[in-house]
Amino acid sequence: MHVTIPKVAYYTVRSKGKINFEYFCRQILIIAMQIVFASNNSYKVREIRHILGESFSLLSLADISMEEDIPENEPALEGNALAKARYIFNATGLNVFADDTGLEIDALGGLPGVNSARFAGAEKSFDANIEKVLAMLGDTEKRNARFRTVIALILNGKEHLFEGIINGTIIKERRGTAGFGYDPVFVPEGKNITFAEMNLDEKNTISHRARAFEKLREFLRSNVPPCNKDTV
Ligand code: IMP
Repeated sequence: MHVTIPKVAYYTVRSKGKINFEYFCRQILIIAMQIVFASNNSYKVREIRHILGESFSLLSLADISMEEDIPENEPALEGNALAKARYIFNATGLNVFADDTGLEIDALGGLPGVNSARFAGAEKSFDANIEKVLAMLGDTEKRNARFRTVIALILNGKEHLFEGIINGTIIKERRGTAGFGYDPVFVPEGKNITFAEMNLDEKNTISHRARAFEKLREFLRSNVPPCNKDTV
């Protein structure tokens, strides 16, 4: 990407010596970096804007008028995330990232995993999904589980993968009303409240998605093109 910064701004910054020019220039390039988040889930778009902050110009699928359901038929999270990112990249040529998350429960051999959204049927009902998980687990005390998020990024045509994991336990009854999906029955390791009993800030400091997106954010920041006075 090439961004033109007026020479007067450059010389003002340099002559006053108050702001480090390299820092100033990189901040402008980061803010100018437009990137599409390939998701129709408004909860997630809200969470990710919160995690990435104002640093990047994040476009939703609504912003680029592509709100159709993107196919998610791959047998693993990695394949699904890549398929969604490629779908948007092939249609628009824009820089894009997509994520896929699964709840992996040990006692169920890793289910619902890649089928977390449709575990109890095509309607993607959060309530019915929880009901099914609780019924399958019954009274077992072996309730270890993890949320795993995979992000696929296509930046300037090159593909990259990032992963974030939070371990925890599936409790026997729902607690809390915040969040979405399986939040009311998932207690993260080291806590005694469910994700649905946490506010967004608290969830975002430890969640699978926050961990994966933190890696994405660091990667994007370190891959902004170098900046020196010859590029101005
Ligand atoms: P997605 O790939 O982020 O759309 O997630 C697939 C499914 O996993 C969602 O429909 C939810 O049922 C579940 N899920 C994903 N992230 C979370 C979360 O943070 N809390 C609870 N459930 C989640």
